[in-house]
Amino acid sequence: MGGKEMEVDSLEGVGPTTKQKLTDVGINTILDLAIRGPSDVADGIGFDMARAIELCNKARVKLVELGMMERDFVPATEILERRRKIGRVTTGTSSLDDLLMGGIETQAVTEFYGEFGSGKTQICHTLCIMVQAPPEDGGLDGGAIYLDTENTFRPERIYDIARARNKDADEILSRITVAKAYNSAHQELIMGEMGSILDKTGARLIIIDSAVAHYRAEYLGRGTLAERQQKLNRFMHLLTRTAETRNVAIVLTNQVLSTPDVFFGDPSKPVGGHVVAHTSTYRIYLRKAGKNRIARMVDSPYHPEHEAVFILNEKGVDDGPSDPMKGKQISR
Ligand SMILES: Nc1ncnc2c1ncn2[C@@H]1O[C@H](COP(=O)(O)OP(=O)(O)O)[C@@H](O)[C@H]1O
Ligand SMILES: [Mg+2]
Repeated sequence: MGGKEMEVDSLEGVGPTTKQKLTDVGINTILDLAIRGPSDVADGIGFDMARAIELCNKARVKLVELGMMERDFVPATEILERRRKIGRVTTGTSSLDDLLMGGIETQAVTEFYGEFGSGKTQICHTLCIMVQAPPEDGGLDGGAIYLDTENTFRPERIYDIARARNKDADEILSRITVAKAYNSAHQELIMGEMGSILDKTGARLIIIDSAVAHYRAEYLGRGTLAERQQKLNRFMHLLTRTAETRNVAIVLTNQVLSTPDVFFGDPSKPVGGHVVAHTSTYRIYLRKAGKNRIARMVDSPYHPEHEAVFILNEKGVDDGPSDPMKGKQISR
């Protein structure tokens, strides 16, 4: 994606100064402008909200003209057309694939939440490998971007899982791009740059492990709760827009609190509460049951709610030995 018509200064009223400011906050194209939205633009380059809204609207109009974004009112047939382009990534286990009706979807944000050690990070690592497979093997023939906020990304683990799955581990590693976020502002900055990273790498999967940890750590206290929710809300909407407009799969993890926390609500509920829950397209709750892990699809508009059993082993995630689904090939 490129060309002169995609440059921000092709929009009326954007001169070299504004262009530079936009570039500084990772907005390089009019598509970036539309995806990031007015709040980000206002904060990023010091425009007042009205000007930022006007600028983003201009970007939207231009994208519609270029056929790169849908008009506000669209025929249902067009939506169907876009939804036909939804791709799926196998999780590497038939039980989880069955739960997800074929795997993780593009154009969607999938949230895995659960207690410490429930397998969230292992699922993320495995997906980075599976997405690289050709479509006939359950992948999207694309790379992965791993936004690591808890310093739990391990290239060695990728290497081991890839080898256990008889894949070229060096080749697999070369198609994974890692960004470590040191705080929530940095996490937002990285997410803002995602457009150009997607262009450069052709990745089809974005992992955010974990999406909420920094927000939780930084915003302690009722006084800042509203601000935290607002920032998280903005971050989540950026994820949704990125997934839809770029036709990529986005997977995020979310921890469940083990101890009651007055600032973050019910200990059995994922951190970030309603903001993350309402914005994620699919939500899967993970829990430990001895050596097994149990996944349950929550609140999906069309997945029948049921549970899947899986284990964590040298292949990352795998079907458990006692799993009746093991070996059963499901159609994708
Ligand atoms: N190489 C491995 N072989 C088998 N199991 C592993 C391996 N590495 C990690 N695990 C399992 O993964 C668990 C950690 O899961 P993880 O995905 O990191 O949890 P979280 O949900 O906190 O992200 C460990 O407790 C262990 O059971
Ligand atoms: Mg983890």
